[in-house]
Amino acid sequence: MRILSGIQPSGKLHIGNYFGMMRPMINNMDRGELYAFVVNLHALTSVHDGRRLADDTLEAAADFVALGLDPDKCIFWVQSDVPEVTELAWILSTVTPLGLLERCHSYKDKVARGVAACHGLFAYPVLMAADILLYQAELVPVGKDQKQHLEVARDIAIKFNNTFGDTFILPEPGIDDDVATVPGIDGQKMSKSYGNTIGIFLDEKTLKKSVMAIVTDSTPVDEPKDPDKCNLYNIFKLFAPEERLGEVHELYVNGGAAYGYLKLELVDILWEYFRQAREIREKLVDDKTYLQDILAKGAEKAREKAQPTLNLVRERVGLRYR
Ligand code: ADP
Ligand code: TRP
Repeated sequence: MRILSGIQPSGKLHIGNYFGMMRPMINNMDRGELYAFVVNLHALTSVHDGRRLADDTLEAAADFVALGLDPDKCIFWVQSDVPEVTELAWILSTVTPLGLLERCHSYKDKVARGVAACHGLFAYPVLMAADILLYQAELVPVGKDQKQHLEVARDIAIKFNNTFGDTFILPEPGIDDDVATVPGIDGQKMSKSYGNTIGIFLDEKTLKKSVMAIVTDSTPVDEPKDPDKCNLYNIFKLFAPEERLGEVHELYVNGGAAYGYLKLELVDILWEYFRQAREIREKLVDDKTYLQDILAKGAEKAREKAQPTLNLVRERVGLRYR
């Protein structure tokens, strides 16, 4: 099976990204042919600082490898190093009904939050469809917020296949129900753009500050509380060992759960959980050439995979005239 997913280099990696996309990708490493990439062309829709985008691109790659992605077991590259994708995006855009894009929540949400409503932002799902269809991906592990974008990719593939003959495989979303939406410190979906994240590679002081800021209610310690409605518990349960989670669940149900203590415990758990990844990441960030080399080799392999599909598309739509 061909499994593919990408992450934007547009901010610091948070635990929502980890559970929604990175961990499923890493866990899928032995299940099939894995395609992982850093989608810097997509990030251009929100980052307009060249130096920052270039730095964040390498950092996002370091995050992925530090958390366990093995570049020898997958194709790992930076989106813009395979220019075929932009040609395919243009061709796909010529069969994409406008209404399909007008319905996209992500575009509407971003504009409502003040992101400039440029054409690239509107056309974002078409480029994402090109990312997926160019490699004939079958499974795309993502968080729930990307479900609609996957539906758009499928709809575009169907439209193209119906117009020009069978060309693209229809991709399926891989959404893990247990962690489909990781809550942020305020209880909304955790997202860079909501400023409610808990970063994975924060220094200890900043990590503590984020965790202590998790919003909880004012129920007194001794009173019973519903764990499932508690934001702190919902984050805690993603990391705590099973036995400890059972004890904490009891404290919630029977009374005795002290939010302050649980938050401090969560800081320690998180710090340990990502210790190894943090150490590997520090080395990767120090030795940029190692990562650059991996990404260059990955781009070469990705291009080899992309070209047959693009050639077929060119043929189907009539761009081959010689
Ligand atoms: P953000 O919303 O912080 O900008 P991205 O859009 O860059 O995050 O998402 C990168 C990947 O992480 C996507 O697959 C997305 O679905 C997943 N993801 C982001 N936030 C969450 C979350 N809170 N819960 C689960 N998955 C998430
Ligand atoms: N839109 C995705 C996000 O914000 C990133 C992305 C771009 C992607 N192209 C992709 C994810 C292809 C999966 C497959 O997270």
